Amino acid sequence: MNPLHQELKQVYHSDQIEAKKKTVNQDPWRLTYHVMPPIGWLNDPNGVCHFNGRYHLYYQYSPHDAVGGMKYWGHKSSTDLVHFEDHGIKLYPDEPYDLHGVYSGSAYIKDDMIHYFYTGNVKHLGDHDYVSSGREQNTIHAISTDGGFTIEKQACVIGADEYPKEFSNHIRDPKLFKLNSHYYMILGARDREDKGQVIVYRSSDLFNWTYQGVFAGPSPDLGYMWECPDYFTLDGHDVLLMSPQGVEAKGHEFQNVYQSGYMIGHLDPENITFTPEKDFKELDRGFDFYAPQTFEDESGRRIMWAWMGLPPDDDNIQNPTIERGWQHAMTMPRELKIIDEKLYQLPLEEYKVLRQDEKEMNLTISGHQEVKELNGEVYELQIDVHRCGDELSIHLRQDTTISFSKKSGKLSLNHGKSGYGRDERIIELDELKQVRVFSDMSSLEVFINGGEYVFSTRVYPEPGQDQISFSGEGCIHVSKWVLASTNERVS
Ligand code: FRU
Repeated sequence: MNPLHQELKQVYHSDQIEAKKKTVNQDPWRLTYHVMPPIGWLNDPNGVCHFNGRYHLYYQYSPHDAVGGMKYWGHKSSTDLVHFEDHGIKLYPDEPYDLHGVYSGSAYIKDDMIHYFYTGNVKHLGDHDYVSSGREQNTIHAISTDGGFTIEKQACVIGADEYPKEFSNHIRDPKLFKLNSHYYMILGARDREDKGQVIVYRSSDLFNWTYQGVFAGPSPDLGYMWECPDYFTLDGHDVLLMSPQGVEAKGHEFQNVYQSGYMIGHLDPENITFTPEKDFKELDRGFDFYAPQTFEDESGRRIMWAWMGLPPDDDNIQNPTIERGWQHAMTMPRELKIIDEKLYQLPLEEYKVLRQDEKEMNLTISGHQEVKELNGEVYELQIDVHRCGDELSIHLRQDTTISFSKKSGKLSLNHGKSGYGRDERIIELDELKQVRVFSDMSSLEVFINGGEYVFSTRVYPEPGQDQISFSGEGCIHVSKWVLASTNERVS
């Protein structure tokens, strides 16, 4: 173990850190069934995989500062995707090739081992813009031979000086797939003309990698950098997920500071190039969603996690948990499906184990109607719309409203004060058939029409603000369950 590793590990296991964990554990805004950081800051999901019956979720973790900072890989695991155990830190920034951050990466299972590839971030002192000079983003290989609990760094397999010269210093977030007898690694990139692209390397053994070329991009409307690419086939389609930066807002779309979305297209198996056949579509239309990563589980489902947050480039949007020693969380894991050439996201069946205290009713809404017995803070609420008038709204928590207007063909999510700067997000929608809400102490995930659209958002209501009411006109069937806490308290 190198001395820096030892030192960083000791700091993380100090009494000071233990005291901070206690403060976080006492926060009423703490989430009860979502993965969140033990202390400090969390961003991207990394290395997601299912190995010998256990799900692994590693994540970008800055334990020492709730507003971000040096990145480590934190680790949680689960056997059911609902109850998680915390395993502390698995990768520290302790080698010359990753000294300024163990950045995002992924896992690949081969021969009973988990191989990890991640970006080692290094910043050089001097007068640099850290885009065209001053930054190394090395691709590092690491291996676990004990099922994901101990990870040994192996080597820098692509050094920053080996990337093609037409790209800037920003090349990161490796993700692997296999095709015929070769392994391919895609990486997000920013070229020297400030266009986002995905590049691809090829290997026959996971240890030696050769540059293959550009996998996808650039695209005139899709920004200057494509982070976190992910390629897979699903329901007979080739799909590329990515998180582009620098996309202009267009109508109600692309309202967040950065986007995350997908393109359905075609992979050319000879040249290993991906050609989109459909426009880039956002995966989530809420305020807090970025850097998703997927994996195929042992039952063949394509499951996605995302960071339920965004880089802090928008001063209007605040997260008041910073003062309580933590910030950000993961979305619930979601199953992906393609239906009519659209990517749908479905809450996992597994989460039904948390359901308690079921309430079920048919309601005819005419004007404003409170339904006190539905009130709650942590719950799943399913509303099936049998008949809808011109307008129908659902009010929940302190001041959040989901409103559908048949006349304008729009559905909106609005927050008041409890949104801390999150105001309104809108989608175009002809017909409202179903709304499914997963509410946690400071988050909402809203699935519309069976997962055709999703809104993920953080929200910070005052304690006890748990109203549920309806307004407008319509006939609905409501089911509501209190969701049990998965009770992961980090000790
Ligand atoms: C996305 C991202 C990645 C990078 C990581 C650093 O949120 O910027 O591109 O690897 O976060 O934490």
